Amino acid sequence: MYRDPVSASPSPAAAPAAQRPLRVGMIGIGTVGGGTFRVLARNQAEIAARAGRAIEVTMVAARDLERAAGIVGAGVQLTRDPLQLATHPDIDVVVEVAGGTGPALDWALAAIAHGKHLVTANKALLALHGDAIFEAARQHGVAVAYEGAVAVSIPIVKALREGLTANRIAWVAGIVNGTTNFILSRMRDDGLDFGTALAQAQALGYAEADPSFDIDGTDAAHKMALLAANAFGTPVPFDAVQVEGIRTLQVLDMACAAQLGHRIKLLGIARRQPDGLELRVQPALVPDTQLLAHVDGSMNGIVVCGDASGVTMYYGAGAGSEPTASAVIADLVDVARLAGTQAAQRVPHRGFHAHAMRALPVLPRAAVSSARYLRVPLHRASDAEPLGRWLAAQGLVPRKAALAQLPEGTGAQWLVLTGPATQAHVDGLLDQLQRHPAVAGAVTALHVEPLDA
Ligand code: HSE
Repeated sequence: MYRDPVSASPSPAAAPAAQRPLRVGMIGIGTVGGGTFRVLARNQAEIAARAGRAIEVTMVAARDLERAAGIVGAGVQLTRDPLQLATHPDIDVVVEVAGGTGPALDWALAAIAHGKHLVTANKALLALHGDAIFEAARQHGVAVAYEGAVAVSIPIVKALREGLTANRIAWVAGIVNGTTNFILSRMRDDGLDFGTALAQAQALGYAEADPSFDIDGTDAAHKMALLAANAFGTPVPFDAVQVEGIRTLQVLDMACAAQLGHRIKLLGIARRQPDGLELRVQPALVPDTQLLAHVDGSMNGIVVCGDASGVTMYYGAGAGSEPTASAVIADLVDVARLAGTQAAQRVPHRGFHAHAMRALPVLPRAAVSSARYLRVPLHRASDAEPLGRWLAAQGLVPRKAALAQLPEGTGAQWLVLTGPATQAHVDGLLDQLQRHPAVAGAVTALHVEPLDA
């Protein structure tokens, strides 16, 4: 007799023998720590069903114990001493969400040396000391998980380390700092000045304790270094990232970029080249035909180009309390699922097994080639044409050029999109252009990233 395969299947799998809860010690109970505690409590049944065991915060280290008690309530042990927590025998996993790179390194290494897994959202710590931390973790057979360190809510570390492992990655391009993306969006859409937009980002809890890390591109560089390590199997190359921030960007250039069909974003690029890696964070024009150009506000977007997958794109909240908590808890669930596994069977910390990693050289700034946007203030609009011929004669051929359509009184501004040229070539040429008799003021030059597959 025919039996329906569904009704014929055995009864649902029996639940495994209950494992004891994963005991979490949390260093820091601020924006991210508070969000993590809140989401763990709110979704505890669902999280336990996924993890196969309960995940319980049993200890918190904080400077202000009264404030911490107000957040976590009774039943959670409190200490002012993160090292005591990191080495405590009743803790299985340490969640470090306090930030900073000095004491945080000591806490991380102490936790690892005491056989504890480490979950951290601290991108600065991992960008500067990740290789040492991962090596220590390898030696002690524990896991270090850091999904919350890069583009918070977006599971990009998981995508690179697990979903895209078939691919030779060609490039990764990302808007990976929520604060600067929020500032650029408010400036462009609402005409806010830089300072007001930054104050709003700080009030919303997006900005770093020292917002210069956001504005000057350092935070994005931390994240791009971690992405590059996972994409290319190279040790975390933070020191080699070429970084420019958004302090000097002018609203005028946002309007001019729009006239040329582009939007200005603080963009991180990690690209494999024949001689090494291109690795930089810079304000850049992105064609508004690209989805990435439409990642606005505090949202983040990352595009990965693999040889087999082609282009894949990831989008989500790039900053904030619960979006970061989402990633931190996903890491805790991964740790809860590790019980009984050997370290060698786990997903490697940087996507590639340690013995197979190779330090790739990062191309010097002068050797990086890309297309450029130029805004050239002119004495007379009629100077544009001869200047275009002059530029072409210098080897920087205008692919598109127009006079800016701006309110009266702004003066003639000649806008150019060039073909690709190395930074060394452009630096030399800008020097000459700036001294050209037709030029009436400071020339602005920005990278243009077409993001073609
Ligand atoms: N300050 C960071 C940002 C927080 O704005 O993206 C999330 O890493």
